[in-house]
Amino acid sequence: MRILRINGPNLNMLGIREPDIYGKNTHADLCRLITDYADEKNIAVELFQSNHEGVLVDAIQEAYGKFDGIVINPAAYTHTSIAIPDAIKSVGIPAVEVHISDISKREDFRRISYAGMACEKSFIGLGFDGYIKAIDYLINR
Ligand code: DQA
Repeated sequence: MRILRINGPNLNMLGIREPDIYGKNTHADLCRLITDYADEKNIAVELFQSNHEGVLVDAIQEAYGKFDGIVINPAAYTHTSIAIPDAIKSVGIPAVEVHISDISKREDFRRISYAGMACEKSFIGLGFDGYIKAIDYLINR
């Protein structure tokens, strides 16, 4: 099993960025958590982060034929991008949406997730654990 974990804009700032919302752990901590878990489960995980919508679309397209699952937190593009769910549907790779914070309990503009409409499952508001739950979902599916 090969999983691609995609993180969108500003998630590289975890630990510095709004710690009251996203916690004090860094993006490097998150990446380590995921790679350690992948080692434990004996699966391959590639980690990708970009601040650019088109680059995220490229990463999804390039996953075609290479990955069995995508774990994606498109960050702010969740609520604005149509290109990201279109790309997920284009490649037909099972995808799981993750949000560290509970987007249903924040500003109104965060309530709509376009990306989530192309995903099989969403883990929202569980902190970093959402990524682990998303990997488990893809393994067990
Ligand atoms: C986020 C929630 C988004 O609304 C926000 O723009 C982010 C992070 C989350 O993981 O909670 O950048 O996706």
